Amino acid sequence: MIRAFFILICFIILGAVIFVYSGTYNIAATVPHSEIITWVFNTVKMSSVRKHSEGIKVPSLESDTLVREGFEHYENMCVGCHGAPGTDPAKEFNPAPPALADIVLELRPAELFWIIKNGIKMTGMPESGSAHSDDEIWGIVAFTMRLPEMSPEQYKMMKSEAGKNPGRHHHGD
Ligand code: HEC
Repeated sequence: MIRAFFILICFIILGAVIFVYSGTYNIAATVPHSEIITWVFNTVKMSSVRKHSEGIKVPSLESDTLVREGFEHYENMCVGCHGAPGTDPAKEFNPAPPALADIVLELRPAELFWIIKNGIKMTGMPESGSAHSDDEIWGIVAFTMRLPEMSPEQYKMMKSEAGKNPGRHHHGD
């Protein structure tokens, strides 16, 4: 009995190894992941984000100055992939970057901070922590949390207002 079980386990491992080396799984970004792989990936991702963001102290995110500074970083670093009110996200990625207005309210501020600071492996979501201070990243968090209620007109207005005060932020990105 124990022996049969052992042989079965060996066959399962052998099958997995053959599958990995066979090239059968299509990693093309044009083809969606199977449902199982999508579930595993999303569950690993969200469990990891939840655990790693434990204990992060959230500062006050109310200040309009903080939101404006966050906007400038968002405009430089995030719009190309995640879009903005009036601009669709990029479609060439798999998994695709979501429109943040649709998902920010599902995440806690500490989780948003952790994701933006550290990025997400194997998705195209880059880290920002190596070139940006925590204060700057909290600005991005504060700005993204305003996205769900922001119209394309309001976004355009922030853009033209930022254009009138150039030179305050130059981080090379
Ligand atoms: C090169 C493209 C790219 C850039 C630039 C980028 N992201 Fe992402 N982002 C992604 C991708 C791809 C994902 C992964 C989506 C997934 O896992 O379903 C992602 C995921 C996220 C998530 C988690 C969403 C979720 O539900 O999993 C947040 C929050 C986020 N990005 C915010 C930002 C912010 C803020 C910036 C700018 C500082 C930024 N991203 C810059 C591509 C990008």
